[in-house]
Amino acid sequence: MATERWVSGRAEGVDEERRDFALRPKSLDEYVGQADLIERVRITVQAARERGEAVGHVLLHGPPGLGKTTMAHVIASEMGSNVHSTSGPALTKGSDLAGALTRLDEHDVLFIDEIHRLPAAVEEFIYPAMEDGRIDVAVDSGLAARTMRLSLKAFTLIGATTRTGLLTAPLLSRFEITHHLKYYAHEELLAILERSSGLLGVDAEASALSSIAGRSRGTPRIANRLLRRVRDYAQVRADGRVVDAVVDEALALEGVDSRGLDELDRDYLRVIGTTYRGGPVGLEAIAATMGQDAGTLEDVVEPYLLQIGFVARTRRGRQLTADGAAFAGVKLEVKPEGTALFAE
Ligand SMILES: Nc1ncnc2c1ncn2[C@@H]1O[C@H](COP(=O)(O)OP(=O)(O)O)[C@@H](O)[C@H]1O
Ligand SMILES: [Mg+2]
Repeated sequence: MATERWVSGRAEGVDEERRDFALRPKSLDEYVGQADLIERVRITVQAARERGEAVGHVLLHGPPGLGKTTMAHVIASEMGSNVHSTSGPALTKGSDLAGALTRLDEHDVLFIDEIHRLPAAVEEFIYPAMEDGRIDVAVDSGLAARTMRLSLKAFTLIGATTRTGLLTAPLLSRFEITHHLKYYAHEELLAILERSSGLLGVDAEASALSSIAGRSRGTPRIANRLLRRVRDYAQVRADGRVVDAVVDEALALEGVDSRGLDELDRDYLRVIGTTYRGGPVGLEAIAATMGQDAGTLEDVVEPYLLQIGFVARTRRGRQLTADGAAFAGVKLEVKPEGTALFAE
């Protein structure tokens, strides 16, 4: 399901990753938004270069599609070094990590995507690698078992995760920079779309790009995807030019509304609003009613609805806000004291 969603922040597979690659900023100057991250990276990169050292280890966290992988590449390119990419689940044992680390050249970046999924058995090996630039690998087994110590070249580990909550404290503490990427503002998305239209050679009206930006859920990957889809629609159903009406028609066809919400979001809001009278209700109950997986809702539906203030997370569960209820067309019963919004 999630893979076919126009407004999911996740990449839709290798094909989209390849297309995204062409639109990916290559340097700090091209990287739009995230001003505080850019500033931290500029300082650390310049300091490292002046000292002839590798950049300190960096942890990037935040929802999918906000530019974590892109930033890992930008940091390496600013250092004039290379990125070697892997992921938490791909590193199943210590020797996988040793293999990845020993392939690095001086000041290279090892990018570990989904670092929260790194197995505990591998995590142990990563501490001395990050701290002292060495890794102890097991050679042979049984009676002949011994460990061999490998010294590593100075490298930068860049970890990316959508779930910092799942990282252990010892791992977290070993990053020099830990940064949470934020959703992008409308003007930033617009700037990204203008740049992308230029690169793709799309003839687009400014107001049409603004309308795409408004439906991109604060996420560059979604902005670029919507632009590509609207361009296809303009080519096949109109004269090729991306104008307001074309954006509206193309996105209406996919059930994406003017806020960038789709059927799945609306279903979620309806279930809380109607079935559970506005909440509070546990995520599991919502998921069961919708016939969806709770983890999926938590990862791909809730973050944006929380961000725009349509739902709130309380200790007793999810609750529609006044805005969320108005959107879902649910009437709220106001309690006598006028503070709580929902009747029990
Ligand atoms: N700051 C940015 N400026 C311009 N484009 C961006 C930016 N961040 C992300 N993008 C675009 O969005 C796409 C997805 O970003 P990516 O780094 O893969 O996200 P993540 O790794 O956080 O899921 C990139 O290929 C790029 O085209
Ligand atoms: Mg990524």
